[in-house]
Amino acid sequence: MTEQNELFAPSREITEKALIKDYDTLYRRSIEEREAFWAEEAGKLGWYKKWDRVLDSSQKPFYKWFTGGKINIVHNAIDRHVATWRRNKLALIWEGEPGESRTYSYHALNREVCKFANILKSMGVKKGEIVTIYMPQIPELPIAMLACAKLGAAHSVVFGGFSVDALSARIRDANSRVVITADGGFRRGKVVDLKGTVNEALKDAPTVEVCIVIRRTGHAVTMESDRDFWFHELMGLPIATSKCETEVMDAEDPLFILYTSGTTGSPKGLVHTHGGYAVYTSSTMRNVFDLREEDRYWCTADPGWITGHSYLVYGPLINGATLVMYEGAPNHPYPNRWWQMVEKYGVSILYTSPTAIRGLMRFGEQWPRRHDLSCLRLLGSVGEPINPEAWRWYHRVIGGGRCPIMDTWWQTETGGFVITPLPITPLKPGSATKPYFGHEPAIVDDDGNELAPGQEGHLVLKAPWPGMARTILGDPERFRKTYWSAYEKQGWYKAGDSGRKDKDGYFWIIGRTDDVIKVSGHRLGTAEIESALVSHQDVAEAAVIGVPHEVKGQAIHCFVILKHRKVGSRELEEELKAHVSRQVGALARPEKIDFMDALPKTRSGKIMRRVLKARALGQDVGDISTLEE
Ligand code: WTA
Repeated sequence: MTEQNELFAPSREITEKALIKDYDTLYRRSIEEREAFWAEEAGKLGWYKKWDRVLDSSQKPFYKWFTGGKINIVHNAIDRHVATWRRNKLALIWEGEPGESRTYSYHALNREVCKFANILKSMGVKKGEIVTIYMPQIPELPIAMLACAKLGAAHSVVFGGFSVDALSARIRDANSRVVITADGGFRRGKVVDLKGTVNEALKDAPTVEVCIVIRRTGHAVTMESDRDFWFHELMGLPIATSKCETEVMDAEDPLFILYTSGTTGSPKGLVHTHGGYAVYTSSTMRNVFDLREEDRYWCTADPGWITGHSYLVYGPLINGATLVMYEGAPNHPYPNRWWQMVEKYGVSILYTSPTAIRGLMRFGEQWPRRHDLSCLRLLGSVGEPINPEAWRWYHRVIGGGRCPIMDTWWQTETGGFVITPLPITPLKPGSATKPYFGHEPAIVDDDGNELAPGQEGHLVLKAPWPGMARTILGDPERFRKTYWSAYEKQGWYKAGDSGRKDKDGYFWIIGRTDDVIKVSGHRLGTAEIESALVSHQDVAEAAVIGVPHEVKGQAIHCFVILKHRKVGSRELEEELKAHVSRQVGALARPEKIDFMDALPKTRSGKIMRRVLKARALGQDVGDISTLEE
């Protein structure tokens, strides 16, 4: 990527009304008096009891925030609003792929969350346990998350696109006793058979005693008596009353576990908390999206990923926003589906991914042109670097040249935005611009020396922030090693991304430096795909890399050594692709599989993916002195 000098200044319309009009002053203050800044942000929330300390660094890198404080995120996301006029404000507008829609006021959302929580309570769900949720994008998904949080149980949402093994591994790791799912969901006009997947996964998840099933598609599913319960039947029972106390939690009590891929081994369950996470997601949401009471905000992410947790559910609800949620594919039945929805619901803020933009861009301008998109005020992008061409299309065609694009860089681990513009920030297409308040990101070399403008290096975060993940479930040592050991002396967080900072202090994120692949913005680890391949009877060894892809950002390219006497063929390639889809999920389906006689390895037996990558891209393989003979 070459340095962009193109600058998009915000309009007067935007700057005059913006919540934050002077970034530099507030930023400086947020660094010089970091704790005071966060205390002020925390003060905007409702606490049962105020915290004693803003930040406790005594056991770093296991930082604690707002210790001594008592809070529940649901108290902030719902209870506080129903006590005001907002009780009658729309909280959620939902549209299913077949076209039906449902709306919930804050009052209705509260009622449904209470009823759901009472059902969970009757199933014995208690503070401290972890409930696994595996659902399509229907209102019951956020309702289930909120119901767990209300009772003080942590939720672990597993993206509905993951398959049997991925799901059962996550249920086992979390020791879940209760699983919430649906019979299925709709995607491109077809039924996704979620309950079938759950049934298979539960064969390998002995801790599960209860499975609550929401009826969505109505297709025939197998229900196991004594374990599986229809949600609509439970909702009809006298226990499902519409009043339920919100549990008082310590600020540091876990709110949720979210599994994400890393370099090695199994996905890690990152732990986020009630207090710091609520402060962080609400602050970033309000300031970056310049949230106003009358906004209609649509985040297209699935709640199964961190973007859905922080900026579809918690960040917007804590701010009392009206959010839009959609179940299905962007191009179903036609490529104008999203634009039709923007017009229909009067969406003013749209937050999506570069992959979606590139995908919709391919269908041509005529689709968005058919709709009046003048209701849009702000746009957002997340998940991967946005290429300037897609940025300009998004800005010109969707935003009518009028809407600033908030290119937000962050991670499952960070809980919320870290490097991001504000609406008043002059924008450079392809740059996530500058740090959010309280953050000190830097681009450094292996030894921690800060690099000169324009030079590529590791992205580190020098200071802790309230939304940071606290640990990896059951494996604090892995947490310390993965994120904090590379710059232990300095006490910096290593993000695992490379990037550059230009002479104006703008950050340009390049991509992951580890073995994480972002396929359509979805985070996958090479290790998961490799172990899926090796689990096939004909495969002896496998190596996986990410290669650039025009729409998906990155695509999966596999190198496979077959067991003796087996020969590679088109059929076997197709079979292996299908095998990976079945094992991990359709999102992990490889683009290409090459059959090899040997894989490049170091003398200690480590596969040199760098060499495979260079070869696949027709580049110089670089230093291969460590390569085995
Ligand atoms: C990438 C998603 C460039 C990055 C919220 C990061 C981005 C990883 C951007 C985290 C962006 C996310 N520009 N790259 N605006 N946003 N990334 O955990 O590589 O699914 O490390 O969180 O996505 O992915 P995750």
